[in-house]
Amino acid sequence: MKGVILAGGKATRLRPLTKVISKQLLPVYNKPMIYYPLETLIQAGIEDILIVVSRDHAGMFLELLSDGSAFLQDIRKLEGGDKYCDIKLRLSYVIQEEARGSAHAISLAENFADGDRIVVVLGDNIIQDNIKDAVDRYKMQKTGAKIFLKEVDNPQSFGVAEIREDKIIGVVEKPNTPPSNLAVVGIYMYDNQVFDIIRGIKPSERGELETTDVNNYYISRNQMTYEILQGWWGDGGESFDSLLNAGILAANEAKQEK
Ligand code: DAU
Repeated sequence: MKGVILAGGKATRLRPLTKVISKQLLPVYNKPMIYYPLETLIQAGIEDILIVVSRDHAGMFLELLSDGSAFLQDIRKLEGGDKYCDIKLRLSYVIQEEARGSAHAISLAENFADGDRIVVVLGDNIIQDNIKDAVDRYKMQKTGAKIFLKEVDNPQSFGVAEIREDKIIGVVEKPNTPPSNLAVVGIYMYDNQVFDIIRGIKPSERGELETTDVNNYYISRNQMTYEILQGWWGDGGESFDSLLNAGILAANEAKQEK
């Protein structure tokens, strides 16, 4: 399994914070936002990670993280000398020239995936859980995809799952009347079909290729499984309040670990 982090996009909802800096580099308590999705993947045992960035910010990501060694050094300084000492992290980068949507960003990972399955994490999604067991269960799944759902108070702001008798029957992107309060978390596990699926989808009303359409394709083919995320989830990119909340959740967690 390989990992892909989406750190492109224009982040207009967070202007002026994101006028000159990428959203995924904004501080979330004591780390740049992208450190959290990186750790989500590393804790799941994924060492080969591609980061999709926009041209404007590519240099900053490279300077911050390098091939992964600079990132690991920072983590060890903050959290203890031997953290992740048994992993061989390899970071690669690809530039998304235009913000044509999260599914378009995933399509840029085709060469990197090279036939392997991928775990995609949105660069602004911060979670408490270790997803290693879920990734291992996905590896046992013959084909298809797996997503995580989480109960939220404001489903209108997310992709929302429609569930019937425990089966997922569809996902609706930011609906006015949500079919449930189960939001789709920005962590997706896909097999190699994903690249053909993305070639087949059309831009949404907001002019973007959407992961929700990719997920609905897998659901329509009966190839989607889901799990409920147990711990907290922060979407650092949804609003100023969600960014602040992600920082508070991360701070509480970091202090508990000490
Ligand atoms: O956070 C979970 C939600 O993320 C899901 O519930 C939604 O179903 C899903 O569509 C997504 O919603 P957002 O409106 O938050 O997506 P956004 O456009 O902000 O993009 C998500 C991430 O993908 C973000 O970290 C930036 C990156 N991205 C986005 C675009 C549009 C790219 O790398 N390239 C892009 O072109």
